[in-house]
Amino acid sequence: SLHDALPIYYGHHSKADLVKVLVTGGAGYIGTHTVVELLAAGYEPVIVDDFSNSSPEALRRVAHLTGVESPFYEADVRNRDVLERIFIEHNIHAVIHFAGLKSVGESVAEPLRYYSTNIDSTLVLLETMQKFGRSNLVFSSSATVYGNAGTPPFTEDLPRQSTNPYGWTKAMIEQILEDVVATGHGWSITALRYFNPVGAHPSGLIGEDPNNIPNNLMPYISQVAVGRRKQLAIFGGDYDTPDGTGVRDYIHVVDLAKAHVAALNHIEHPDVYKVYNIGTGIGVSVLEVVAAFEKASEQPVPYAIVDRRPGDIASCYASPDLARDELGWEAERSIDEACQDSWNWQSKNPNGFQD
Ligand code: NAD
Ligand code: WQD
Repeated sequence: SLHDALPIYYGHHSKADLVKVLVTGGAGYIGTHTVVELLAAGYEPVIVDDFSNSSPEALRRVAHLTGVESPFYEADVRNRDVLERIFIEHNIHAVIHFAGLKSVGESVAEPLRYYSTNIDSTLVLLETMQKFGRSNLVFSSSATVYGNAGTPPFTEDLPRQSTNPYGWTKAMIEQILEDVVATGHGWSITALRYFNPVGAHPSGLIGEDPNNIPNNLMPYISQVAVGRRKQLAIFGGDYDTPDGTGVRDYIHVVDLAKAHVAALNHIEHPDVYKVYNIGTGIGVSVLEVVAAFEKASEQPVPYAIVDRRPGDIASCYASPDLARDELGWEAERSIDEACQDSWNWQSKNPNGFQD
């Protein structure tokens, strides 16, 4: 049962060692996994989330897993009063900014909601940090800023672009962060460009829990395997890739969470804006993900190859060298392990956090 998972991270550090880190969007998929790794590394997370795409149960699971109940504020990051209260009540050393909207398709239909949520939240956060003299920030960017130009492996020096409003919010926020650091007022900001986050914590207590029909491949496959959906539609079988299906760089969410700890450990230098790809450097096709998932779950994943999805590119994977050389961070978990952990989460929680 879920209760077999022990609070494995409990009690390693005395209170005096702890450094407070504000985690916006800390109840979300990547945020919860990062809170677990922050606690393991001796940081003290303070969480703000409005539950617009998550649930209180996710935070209860994190508390159960770690044995630590982190201070939590239920609020929109655009709420300046609450944000100021957090900085008054806590000596915040650094901020990790996950909060935001992330669905590409939704952003095309509702661009204003996307620009407002993603950009305004970042501006209010930066203004509040400035007001309280706090200058250390790690931001969730995305491989989406490589757009559809260039050929992989993508390196950080490529120009930012996008093909959709969601991606433009990330490109624009990166520009804002770069401009803020360029003032020379002592800011230290790191943007991590995630490739395709997948998998779950090996405890099976936390994982990805999308509302409605999943947009992304891995949660869709797991819902097919668990019997919630009939078959996977594979978007395109005629790409210029080894087996004709799209190729992506799938990064295990625990490796991704650890990249945030590495970025925090590195962030002490003032007046530096840095960007790092967070990926494995390995391209994996849709058919390879299906095969890996079938092996891990011992369940069939029926599929049909259908038309390409508008906006998709054939192949996208990282050059992960800069993060390795400068942050000392490397992905350690394979696609097989990600499929095992996704299946463990999905089979123990067929309806996500509602169970
Ligand atoms: P998620 O939706 O699970 O987590 C985001 C969290 O932020 C949710 O808990 C949501 O309730 C909260 N939130 C949203 N708007 C808010 C607001 N205005 N104020 C307070 N809380 C708010 O998504 P995730 O997959 O964990 O993504 C985290 C970050 O990483 C996002 O910025 C996303 O754009 C970025 N990212 C995600 C992926 C991916 O594929 N998952 C890839 C690249 C980048
Ligand atoms: C992966 C592959 C699809 C679903 C998106 C965002 C990106 C980033 C990560 C936030 C592709 C194929 C998918 C399905 C399929 N997010 N697929 N059937 O599109 O690489 O990236 O999430 O920053 O910005 O665009 O991820 O999981 O949707 O797709 O065949 O039902 O799986 O065509 O080749 P994507 P994905």
